[in-house]
This record gives sequence, C-alpha cells and structure tokens, in this order.
Amino acid sequence: MNPARRHLVVTAGPTREYIDPVRYLSNESSGRMGFEIARAAVEQGWRVTLIAGPVHLETPAGVGRVDVISARDMLAAVRKSFRGADALFMAAAVADWRPRRRLAGKWRAKDGGAQTASIDLVRNPDVLASVARAKGARLVVGFALETADGLRRARAKLERKGLDYIALNDDSALNARRATVTIIGRDGVTRRLENRSKQVLARALVRLAVDWSPS
Ligand code: CTP
Repeated sequence: MNPARRHLVVTAGPTREYIDPVRYLSNESSGRMGFEIARAAVEQGWRVTLIAGPVHLETPAGVGRVDVISARDMLAAVRKSFRGADALFMAAAVADWRPRRRLAGKWRAKDGGAQTASIDLVRNPDVLASVARAKGARLVVGFALETADGLRRARAKLERKGLDYIALNDDSALNARRATVTIIGRDGVTRRLENRSKQVLARALVRLAVDWSPS
C-alpha cells in the first residue's frame, strides 16, 4: 500500500434496527449512491473504505468494504476508519430511531388478542454530526433527502452538523438509478445536477474531495 495515497471513507445503504431475532425497522435505501462514490474515488486513485449497511450490491474493484447492520455498528466503523482518512461521504440512510429493547425471542404482541401494539423507540446517535465535530481540516460531506423546502432544510442541516458540503436529493432518488442533486457548500454556493445517473453524480461528488483545500 502506498502511504501517500489519500484515503476516502464512504457509507452506503440503510441500517437495520432489530425488534426481535427476525423483525427490524429499516428504510428503502439501495446503497447505489455510496457504491458509485466508492467506484469513482478508486478511479481517481484514492484508497477507499466503503462502510455498507445490508444491501445487495457487489463491492467495486479495489475498494475495502466493511459490512455493518445497525446505526451503532456504523458509528463504530466510521469512527475507526475516519481516524486516518482525509474525507468522509456519509451517503448511508442511517435509521434515526431504534427499539429500546431487542427481544431475545419473537415479539408475541398478538397473544391475548390485542388489536394495537406499540414499540418504544430511542434516538440513535448521529454518526455524521458526531464525527464532523472532530474533523479538523478534513472534508466531510453529508446527504439530505427532503420532500419539501429542501434548500432551507439542507442548509440548516449543513450548519447544525458542521459539514463542508451537503448533497440534497429529492425523493425521486430513492431506489432509482438517476437523481437530481443539489450540492450546497458551507460558503453558500449551490450547484444543481438535474436527472443524472448516479455514476455521473458520484464523479461530481468525488471532485469535491479532489479539489478540497480547507480555508
Ligand atoms: N445521519 C447520520 N446519523 C443519523 C442520521 C443521519 O449520520 N443517525 C446522516 C446521514 O448519513 C446523512 C445525513 O445525516 O448524511 C442526513 O441527515 P438527517 O438529519 O437524518 O436527514 P434526512 O434523513 O435527510 O431527513 P430527516 O430530516 O427526515 O431526518
């Protein structure tokens, strides 16, 4: 391994938060955006660590992959990989909530004839915000998926989480091969990429890392 090679960490896919041994809370993320970023970064000569939730995608050639299940697993993996890295792209759709308890046996809510049931949830750690706090001069890019008032909400997220850039998707991006993404910088500059393939979007995002010079 060439120690001079710059190191990029990218996360992809959903997380799973288990209720019992066979049931979980999750979301529709396919992982495609993160996998395309990993591929594009290898093309640019970067060493790449891809931290993936449960997805059905092949690992791009030349990429080091770490598989995780839950948000807490993802936090541990990102902390470890980002320690010696230069850039983080947090494309995973991390579940915001998890069941307070993971039952050891199957959840038997139906027993006794109940017609309603509820699951007590607790907040998951915010992986991106927590890692961005200690980023120093390194590049940290977050992702947001908004259905309304996207620009304002994404800018607020960039500020709140201490990011360098945020990539704003609308909900057409979910599980799709093409997407419209607006890249928003900490300096307020925005760039809209309309209905592009995820491969083209990934290359544009990796350029942010190639061109990154912290001010
Ligand atoms: N993220 C994270 N840890 C979480 C939740 C989100 O690292 N527990 C990251 C995601 O990987 C993504 C960004 O934060 O880069 C998304 O921020 P979030 O506040 O979760 O926004 P959305 O998922 O877009 O939407 P919502 O505001 O509905 O939560």
